[in-house]
Formats: sequence, C-alpha cells, structure tokens
Amino acid sequence: MARNLFAPSAFKARDLCDTIRALADRLMEPSSNLEQSFSGRTILVGVCGGIAAYKCAEVVSALRQAGADVHVILTEAAQKFVSQLTFFALSGNAVHADLFAEGSAWDVAHISLVRKSDAFLVLNATANTLAKLAHGLADNLLTTCVLATRRPVLVAAAMNTAMLEAEPTQANIAALQERGFEFVEPGAGFLACGEVGDGRLADPQTILSATAGLLRRSQSLRGRRVVVTAGPTREFADPARFLSNPSSGRMGFALAIEARRRGADVTLISGPTQLPAPADLRFVPVTTASEMHAAVLEHLDGASLFIGAAAVADFRPADVSLDKVKKEGAATTMALSANPDIIADVAARRLPGCFVLGFAAETDDLEANARKKMEKKNLDCIVANDIGADLSSFGGSHTQATLLWPGGRREPLPRAPKKVVAGMLLDRITDALPGM
Ligand code: CTP
Repeated sequence: MARNLFAPSAFKARDLCDTIRALADRLMEPSSNLEQSFSGRTILVGVCGGIAAYKCAEVVSALRQAGADVHVILTEAAQKFVSQLTFFALSGNAVHADLFAEGSAWDVAHISLVRKSDAFLVLNATANTLAKLAHGLADNLLTTCVLATRRPVLVAAAMNTAMLEAEPTQANIAALQERGFEFVEPGAGFLACGEVGDGRLADPQTILSATAGLLRRSQSLRGRRVVVTAGPTREFADPARFLSNPSSGRMGFALAIEARRRGADVTLISGPTQLPAPADLRFVPVTTASEMHAAVLEHLDGASLFIGAAAVADFRPADVSLDKVKKEGAATTMALSANPDIIADVAARRLPGCFVLGFAAETDDLEANARKKMEKKNLDCIVANDIGADLSSFGGSHTQATLLWPGGRREPLPRAPKKVVAGMLLDRITDALPGM
C-alpha cells in the first residue's frame, strides 16, 4: 500500500521497505498448503464497489474450490459492478446485501454467521469503506458485520493512488492496523521501495495466500497458555513518591493481544499504564515488582509461553513512609532493597515445555548485554531493544528489535509499530515452542 501504511510519523524509507517486505513475507502462505488451510473453514467476504469487484469473484471461487464455506456480502456500490447472482453461483451460498431486507430475525442470523466465521475478508475496499470501518460506522451490512466480528480481518484495498495516499485514508489504515486488521499490499510495483503503488487490487493468488497465512496464525496458539508481563512497576517511597520508568506497556499489551488473536489462553499481568484492559483475556493489574512477582507465580501453572515484557524496577526504597515525607529535614540519599528477578525466577521454576522469552532494553553493547541476560537468567530467547539510539522505543509506539537465540543466531526485525513487531515476534517464537 502507499508510503504511509503504518503510522505516518517517524518512518525512514529504508525502515518502511524492510517492514513491508517482512510483512509481505509473513502474509504469504505456500500455495501447496491452500487446501489444507481452507478445508472446513468459513470465510466471510465483503466486496466493495469498484472496477476490481470482478476480481473478487475469482477470489471467492478459489476459496470455495479450496474447501472453504464462503459467504459474500456486497455493498450497494459493489452491485453496480457485479451482480449477486455471480457470487451466488461461485460461492454456492445466498449473497447478502441489504441490512434491512428481511427484518430483524434475518439480521440476527447474519450476526451468527459473523460469529461462526473463521476470518473476514474485505475486498476491493474503497476509501469510503475504510473510513467507515476506522470510525466504527455500521450503515450497511458489510460495515455492520465487520464491526460485529471478533475474528481476524484482512483488507485488500483498491482505489486511485491519490485517494490512497490522502492523509485521511492513511490515518484510517493506520487506525485499523492499530486494531489488528491486516492489509494485503496492492499488486506488483508496490514493494519497489520509494515508488508509490497505483492502488490496484492485489491479485487473487496474493489475497488467497494472505488469507491462508491469517488463518494459520489465528490458530497457531490454540490450546496454549501464555503469561505476559507488561508496563513499568512503581516502587513507592511514600504515598506521593515512587521509583519507576517510562515504559508504556505497549509492547507487552500488543504481545498479549496478538497471542489471544492466535487462540491462546492469555494472562496479562501489568504495572500501571494508560492502556485499556484488553478484552477476552485475563488481565491482572499490579503496581509493584513484588506484586507482579506474586501474580506471575500464581498464574504460571500450565503455561507454555512466558513473555517478560515488563520494565520491572530492580530496586525499591528500603524504608517506606506511610505519611508523605516533608522536605525539611528529609534525607538526601535513599536506601534501596533488591526486588525479585521475576523472569529469572520463572525460568528456574518452570515446568518442562514452558518457553521463556525476555526483553533487554540497553543503551550500549546492546547484543552482548542482551546475550548476557539471556544466559544469566536462563532464557530461551531474548528481544534486544536499543533504547540509547532511539529513546522513543522506550515508551513509544514503534520499536526496532533484534531477536537473539542461544548459539549466536540473531534475527533483526525492521523498525515498526509495536503491534506489528508483536506479530513478527510470535511468528518466530511459535515455531520454537515445545510440541509445535
Ligand atoms: N526482569 C524481571 N524482573 C526484574 C528485572 C527484569 O522479570 N526484577 C525481566 C524483564 O521483564 C526483561 C528482562 O528481565 O524481560 C531484562 O530486563 P532489563 O530491565 O533489561 O534487565 P535487568 O535484569 O533489570 O538488568 P539491568 O537493569 O542491569 O540492565
């Protein structure tokens, strides 16, 4: 998609190219797996109005041939380009278009279709539909059903280049990505870094591969228990003062949400942040490192993945005053006590089959220091974050991470929004989980 597929700020061209390539690779699925991917799956396909609507017919046909149960929703504009009959013939299912056609019972039936579907494709997405989806509008059947779905949504947009590049469209795409919607890049030429895409709908094979990848990821942690720590901890010296750090909790929250999207039973244990508690997972708010430590041990049972993304304060004030300390006569030095090392404790106590992923935020000797932490704490893998070169990654919305494995293997990831990086990390970790 266009240059601002991701949050418009802070992107250098090279970072963006790397990100796009990484995402494109992640989205693709070998075509040999397609039947395996779609057999027995229910896919909702929403088609918007535009000249490429006919290409969506090809996607529907291919999905059905690969074994999927495909249900199509057309917008009013889509029906100016293709008929319901086309999609009825190709999908073998009734085609839906009118929110009010058959009364409220009919509407409810569609909500149940949304619930039983495994994925939602929004094809030939126009600037208008993207704007509606980004703002939660529900003024036609397609937008209503997207709003009602909890399943993964894949969008393939198609529009004029200027409309695609327009700031409102870019902001809408960024907002939808923030919410976990995935986007298929338009056709050939877009990945040529520095060049602007023409906004054509991606070819059907690309959409199919991306859908297969989406389905695979949405199941990849089913049956797994995942425990994630996030955010900073606060270590109070008195009721008005505490030691802490600038962690926003975004990385840990993104990982927890992404693990949930992939079917895991997730417990997110977080220090104080500005982020809302995510839906559909066990959220345990804590304040201090000691509370986080206790909560982790309480929820660790049966976990196959522990992710320590929290920026845990290593020390707490040794003396805590119940009353606010007055500056007159106050000590100018503070005695500290060491906090428990949560992740090291998890690694020491874990049962076989529990993979432990740590994070290392460093200002210098990034990889050497991160590796030392991995070894000392007996972790299976560590994410190294350079907070010296780019302080914005500590507490910011984007990050540049390198995944380090025992034995010297390293996987640098492109700088990208934390939500995107969360997906990239889980892609790599999932394959390494015992029993996968
Ligand atoms: N961690 C933890 N408990 C602590 C300190 C850190 O669980 N008391 C975890 C973090 O969640 C992270 C990893 O250990 O996964 C490394 O954290 P980091 O703050 O980078 O390292 P520290 O061990 O605190 O070492 P230092 O502050 O000296 O760099």
